[in-house]
Amino acid sequence: MTVTKAGHLSSRGAVLADPSNRPVMLDIVSNLWHPESNPGGYLSLGVAENTLMHDEITQYMTKNISLNSHALTYGDSFSGSHGLKSAISAFITRHFSPLQPVLSRHIVITSGVGPAIDSCVFSLCDPGDGILLGRPYYGAFPSDVSLRAKAQIIPVAFDDIDPFSLDAMPYYEKALSDARERGILTKAMILCNPHNPLGRCFPPEVLAAYMQFCQKHNIHLISDEIYALSIWENPDAPDAPPFTSTLSIDTAGRIDPSLVHVLWGMSKDFGSNGIRLGCIVSQNNNPLIRALEANSYFTCPSSLADRATTALLSDTTFVESFIRTNSRLLTERYVSTVRFLESRGIPYQEGSNAGLFVWVDLLAYLAGADSSEGLGSEEDRWALETRLEAALLKERVFLACGAAFGSYRPGWFRVVFAHDEAYLLEGLRRIVDALELLRGEMARG
Ligand SMILES: Cc1ncc(COP(=O)(O)O)c(C=O)c1O
Repeated sequence: MTVTKAGHLSSRGAVLADPSNRPVMLDIVSNLWHPESNPGGYLSLGVAENTLMHDEITQYMTKNISLNSHALTYGDSFSGSHGLKSAISAFITRHFSPLQPVLSRHIVITSGVGPAIDSCVFSLCDPGDGILLGRPYYGAFPSDVSLRAKAQIIPVAFDDIDPFSLDAMPYYEKALSDARERGILTKAMILCNPHNPLGRCFPPEVLAAYMQFCQKHNIHLISDEIYALSIWENPDAPDAPPFTSTLSIDTAGRIDPSLVHVLWGMSKDFGSNGIRLGCIVSQNNNPLIRALEANSYFTCPSSLADRATTALLSDTTFVESFIRTNSRLLTERYVSTVRFLESRGIPYQEGSNAGLFVWVDLLAYLAGADSSEGLGSEEDRWALETRLEAALLKERVFLACGAAFGSYRPGWFRVVFAHDEAYLLEGLRRIVDALELLRGEMARG
């Protein structure tokens, strides 16, 4: 009998099967901490989940979802039911202030925004094409664009300038021309607005400049707006720019509107990662919509998710009240988190007003300073970040680390605060324990 090596997989399968490609998150979510049923499990402040309003959502969905025979068929299409397309287009038209109303025919529904990115990139890029993306970035963007579609991220670092300002534009120009010199054709840029992990929104004039940049180079602008309604008041930054959707910026004289695509989904703004529902809005590109629809069998949402989302988004009274309460709770948890960090002398990125997280400089805490520079060379500090990641897991707390999020400075971690106060404080306490554990190891040499 011939013995087949490593499962006899394709070259693609072999890459995926390599243990180094197993997402860390899988080991965390399969062993989550619970004070009684699993006290030894991981407490996760690393996955971008909002559990603050889970009771309201589960009650609403349980009460309002109903099935009929049509829900047991393939339904109206693989890209969402007529009812959901209509509900989601009305919802986006109400909350994103688009220049032109969003209509059902502008929308393709998917099983989440991750699948929406994969599907968009599959139809917009050829293998090897480049996609510009500012650093730091949401850690799954690189795999979302490359695993199936085989495009690649061209990361853009910004030195000390504000990445949300017009000063960022030359950095994109340079990244694009460097990629060209390396033989990479840039086909798109991804903008994450509101930003994960920085929790800030792009002002309208910067969005307009991105449009002009994309037009100049004839590239697609993919705007991931999955945190659009997770906007909250930061008492320390009352003037932080509010959310502006790319859909609301006038394309006239700036960009061919067929290059603009916006993504949104239920995971973050409605605390429903598990429902698996997202969408692509493209108002002026029929060929793209046709391509997405033809490829939608692989990204089709379940009729259960479709019907639950249709019921919820159609109920404007519930939605308005949900957004208000969610926003108030996000402010409360943000304030608890940053006051805790301040009391322990842990620096964090100030000025955010969106999303579910704070970007914190844990190595600076170990350096006892505003930055971690005193801890050695950049290489030494990246090694320390890896050791800190291990110390956090030893203390049974999970955070997303800067290296996985394309940070260009070592030592930064993303802390998700959209959880019950007691859970959050337990997680923050464990972070300090992990820091002290590493400090002890460093002192012992
Ligand atoms: C910016 C961003 N885009 C996409 C996703 C994926 O969302 P979904 O659960 O809809 O696939 C996430 C989840 O963390 C995210 O933060």
